[in-house]
Amino acid sequence: MAFKTTRLDRFIARSSGFSIADTRLLIAQQRIIVDGLPAESAQQRVTAFTQVMLNGKALNDTKAVYLMLNKPQGVVSATKDPKHATVLDLIQHPAKESLHIVGRLDFNSTGLLLLTNDGAWSRKISLPETKLRKTYEVTVSTPMNEAYISAFQSGIYFGYEDLMTQPAELEIVSPFTARLSLVEGRYHQVKRMFGHFQNKVLALHRVSVGSLTLGGLELGDSRLLTRRELERVGLD
Ligand code: URA
Repeated sequence: MAFKTTRLDRFIARSSGFSIADTRLLIAQQRIIVDGLPAESAQQRVTAFTQVMLNGKALNDTKAVYLMLNKPQGVVSATKDPKHATVLDLIQHPAKESLHIVGRLDFNSTGLLLLTNDGAWSRKISLPETKLRKTYEVTVSTPMNEAYISAFQSGIYFGYEDLMTQPAELEIVSPFTARLSLVEGRYHQVKRMFGHFQNKVLALHRVSVGSLTLGGLELGDSRLLTRRELERVGLD
């Protein structure tokens, strides 16, 4: 389970200002309702998305939201920007102000971008150990050759971080186009990997993240992830 859990008595004390002792009394008096049922004990575990009511009033009403957007070019992967439209401007969901971005795409990159208000989930799927595979369609300015495939497989040295990139799979589709599959998401990673060959990335489109794919989602459109998709990507 990706959600961070907290003991019910601590959670109530934090969100209501009652002392822990008073909180336990409220639970014993059955005045605390957790997801529609009287609280069982002070040790019961709850998350930020559990509905906890005291005297009929919700102490928290945060609902987890998980969205995918097909990001168009010319939109910033940020929630605020002084100059440009942001990905948030493209989203209609009522809780959109609570969302953050999971694995940004550059201004001119397009494709699958995830947004959520569940910090534990986004941290989990962004962890290097999770090795969630991201696949991109890439168009470059000079023809590629077989040397790219073995170099990307062996790893490219990134001087700034002083590391070798994880093995990446490159499938050359035509001299100027390829599909690249990575398990990490470093700053401008794809551009820097092609930069190793002094080859400029002209277009970059993310087609999948783990088992999530855009399907028929049009550029600029967004939709909620389904429960089944969430189960497959770090929420079980
Ligand atoms: N790598 C890049 O260089 N840019 C992106 O937008 C995504 C991955």
